[in-house]
Amino acid sequence: MADSFSLNDALAGPGNPNPQGWPGAWGNQPGAGGYPGASYPGAYPGQAPPGAYPGQAPPGAYPGPTAPGAYPGSTAPGAFPGQPGGPGAYPSAPGAYPAAAPYGAPTGALTVPYELPLPGGVMPRMLITIMGTVKPHANKITLNFKRGNDIAFHFNPRFNENNRRVIVCNTKQANNWGKEERQSAFPFESGKPFKIQVLVEPDHFKVAVNDAHLLQYNHRMRNLREINQMEISGDITLTSAVPTMI
Ligand code: GAL
Repeated sequence: MADSFSLNDALAGPGNPNPQGWPGAWGNQPGAGGYPGASYPGAYPGQAPPGAYPGQAPPGAYPGPTAPGAYPGSTAPGAFPGQPGGPGAYPSAPGAYPAAAPYGAPTGALTVPYELPLPGGVMPRMLITIMGTVKPHANKITLNFKRGNDIAFHFNPRFNENNRRVIVCNTKQANNWGKEERQSAFPFESGKPFKIQVLVEPDHFKVAVNDAHLLQYNHRMRNLREINQMEISGDITLTSAVPTMI
C-alpha cells in the first residue's frame, strides 16, 4: 500500500516541476484565521488555509470552477477569496459550505463526528485537506469516504492495537468489510496538530500527513461520483475540512 510516490511526482510534469514539493512548508499553524498568508481574515470554519498547496485552486473553486474565485451558487463571481464581502458575496448553494458560520465569525473547532458533503462526488484532482489536533491519549481517528451506507475508503489510524500503532484502510460494501490494507508508518501523535491531505487520483486515493506522503489506496468502488460524503470521527479536535480542486 505504501509507496514512495508522492503527489509531487504526480503533478510534476515537464512543465510543472512543482519545486515546492507535496505541499510546501507546513508546520503546526493554527486554523484558518491565523494561517500565514490567509487571504481573508476572520476565519471560516471548515476553511483550509489558502495556498497550503502549490498549484491549489483558490478556496471555493470546488468543484468545476467556472471563474477564478467563483463558487457554486455564488452570486458574485470573483468575490471570493481574499475579498471582504458581505453575506451576499458568499456561497448560497445548500451544503456548499458545510458548517459555515456567518461570515467573519471567529474560528472554532468543528463538531466531531463531522460530515463533509461532497456534492457531485469525488473526482481526480480533488484534494481534501483536514486539519486538527489529536487529543491526548487518543485511541483512533477515522475518515470515511461514503457512498450511501457503503464506505469506499476507510482510513483508520489506531493508536493502540495490541500496543502497536497502525493505520488500517478498508472498504465496506453491503455491511461487509473487505480485506484490510495495513500501514505501520504512523505520523500521528497524541496531543499534536496534524494535517491530512487526501488527493483523489484516477486509480487510487493518495494520502499525505504533515506534508509527507503516507499511503495510497486503490479504488475498489469505481463510481467516484457517487462517493458524495466524507465523515470524520475519532479522538481529535477538528479545525477545518475542505475540498478543493488542484
Ligand atoms: C473493524 C472495525 C471497523 C473498521 C474495520 C476495518 O475491526 O470494527 O471499525 O475499522 O475493522 O477493517
